[in-house]
Amino acid sequence: MARLITGIAELVTNDAAFGAAPLGVLTDAALVVEDGRTAWVGRAVDAPAADERIDVGGRAVVPGFVDSHTHLVFAGDRAAEFAARMAGARYDGGGIAATVAATRAASEDELRLLLRARVAELRAQGTTTVEIKSGYGLRQADELLALRLAGEVTDETTFLGAHVVPAGVDRSDYFRALTGPMLDACAPHARWVDVFCEPASPHAFDATEARTILEAGRGKGLGLRVHANQLSAGPGVRLAVELGAASADHCTHLSAEDVDALAAGQTVATLLPGAEFSTGAPYPNARRLLDAGAIVALATDCNPGTSYTSSMPFVIALAVREMGMTPDEAVWAATSGGARALRRTDVGRIAPGCRADHAVLDAPSRLHLAYRPGVPIARPLDLDVHETL
Ligand code: NIG
Ligand code: FE
Repeated sequence: MARLITGIAELVTNDAAFGAAPLGVLTDAALVVEDGRTAWVGRAVDAPAADERIDVGGRAVVPGFVDSHTHLVFAGDRAAEFAARMAGARYDGGGIAATVAATRAASEDELRLLLRARVAELRAQGTTTVEIKSGYGLRQADELLALRLAGEVTDETTFLGAHVVPAGVDRSDYFRALTGPMLDACAPHARWVDVFCEPASPHAFDATEARTILEAGRGKGLGLRVHANQLSAGPGVRLAVELGAASADHCTHLSAEDVDALAAGQTVATLLPGAEFSTGAPYPNARRLLDAGAIVALATDCNPGTSYTSSMPFVIALAVREMGMTPDEAVWAATSGGARALRRTDVGRIAPGCRADHAVLDAPSRLHLAYRPGVPIARPLDLDVHETL
């Protein structure tokens, strides 16, 4: 059945065929959706006939957000750790152990319910594609369970056994498992492999370890992602670019060489300002990356330690206010940028053939995403529920 969506005051397509790059904005627009795909995009006056017509009443429609970096499979929370940080304590990744203990103690059913509630929370705020990492199991069976559960709700699953070395386990023993039996067991359930590459953390992995883990993952057919330069201007970003990773995530502390490498390579710089908000670290300098020509994505990093937000609009607002991005750059980074970071061409855009993943705003313009911080104006354009807008 073909559905015509009309009454769109402003349609962000992220496709230069429909308007000036990069957002390709159409005003007084309409679109047709059929079989879960966008079938037609244009001005409302040119709209073709359809089986059903949905009028969104002068609202803005943007591509559904592509949240390319989350850690949604976990139990427990770390509110006390957050409060301690707000009182001056520093983040070094040590708190991950508390979430690992809580996650291992939870049953499969409990973890599934927690995960599904978080995915529902993301979706309710306009996110339509989500990447989900393991990394709070850190034992073969627990990592496998996290990936199986994540695979029930998304195709974008990431093996992050290399989050930290778990408490009470010898580093070289864990490293051997990570590049051997654990990887063998987990790889069939993952699309990506990720490493927390951070020589400044005693818990995470240095560049030599990270390289070996990433290459082993690649040998199993996984695409590469790296938690890079979160706590210090370490080697993570340059390693990610050198290995052709899809994304280098965090990029909080960058040297001139890191910026040059990102600008020259195909690796997306995924910025996660929810983490700087919650750790008190300086925000990454998005302006410097954009001016150098790097591809920038925005994601929530939703996790109980450093960024317990599921809201892409909140991340957009932070990027605009704190990181020197224009509202349009931030909207692009939260949609097309995320799609680039996941090497997807079927999401992050509203164009014929793309997935019919749209977010509708209770506002006439995409500018309101940053202009109205903390106000839940974004939600999915859910075609199964007849919109009464
Ligand atoms: O993306 N830096 C490593 N991983 C997460 C935090 C995990 C945690 O503290 O629970 C991050 O910030
Ligand atoms: Fe993360």
